[in-house]
Amino acid sequence: MKNIIVGLSTLIIVGLMIYVALIGKAFQGGEAGKIIEDMKTFNKVKISKKDSSKENDELNSLKDRAGNSSEFKVSQNFKSKCASCHGVNGKGILGPDLFGKSSEEIYTSLIEYKSGRKENPIMKGLLIKIEEAELKELAEEIGSFKDKIK
Ligand code: HEC
Repeated sequence: MKNIIVGLSTLIIVGLMIYVALIGKAFQGGEAGKIIEDMKTFNKVKISKKDSSKENDELNSLKDRAGNSSEFKVSQNFKSKCASCHGVNGKGILGPDLFGKSSEEIYTSLIEYKSGRKENPIMKGLLIKIEEAELKELAEEIGSFKDKIK
C-alpha cells in the first residue's frame, strides 16, 4: 500500500515537471504558444494594476527575465524537491511565488511549516523529511534567485 502511494505521488510530481518543461517550450510558437502569450499579457495587466510602485516594477521585470532566460540555473535539489510546485525559477505554479523573497523570509516560513506553526499539509508533509541545514541551503538559494539575473 505504501509503495502504491509513493509511486503515485512520484508520478504526479514527474507529470508536473514535464508540464513545466512543456510550458517553457510552448513559447516557440504554435497555438499553445499564442495562448500562453495571451496569458502572460493578462497576468502583466493584473500585476501592474495591483502594485504600481517602482520597486515592484523592477521586480516584475526581473521575474520576466528569469522566466525567459535559459541561463537561469538552479540546484538539482531545488529542481527535484521544490520546482514542481514553485516553478524552476521560484515564480510559482501550484505553490506561491517565491521569487524576490529574502532568504530569511523563506527560511522562517519553512521552519514554521515544518514545526506545524504554519499549517499546510502539503508543505509540512514535504518538509518533515528534509533536515534544517538543507532547508537553510535551499532558502539561501531561493533568496539569491533575483541576484542571478542582474
Ligand atoms: C506539492 C507542491 C509543493 C512542493 C513540492 C513545494 N511546495 Fe512550497 N508551498 C506549496 C503550497 C501549496 C504553499 C502555500 C501554503 C500556504 O498557503 O500556506 C507553499 C508555500 C511555501 C512557502 C511560503 C511562501 C509564502 O508566501 O509564505 C515557502 C517558503 C515554500 N513553499 C518553499 C518551498 C521549498 C523550499 C520547497 C522545496 C523543498 C517547496 N516549497 C516545495 C506547495 C509546494
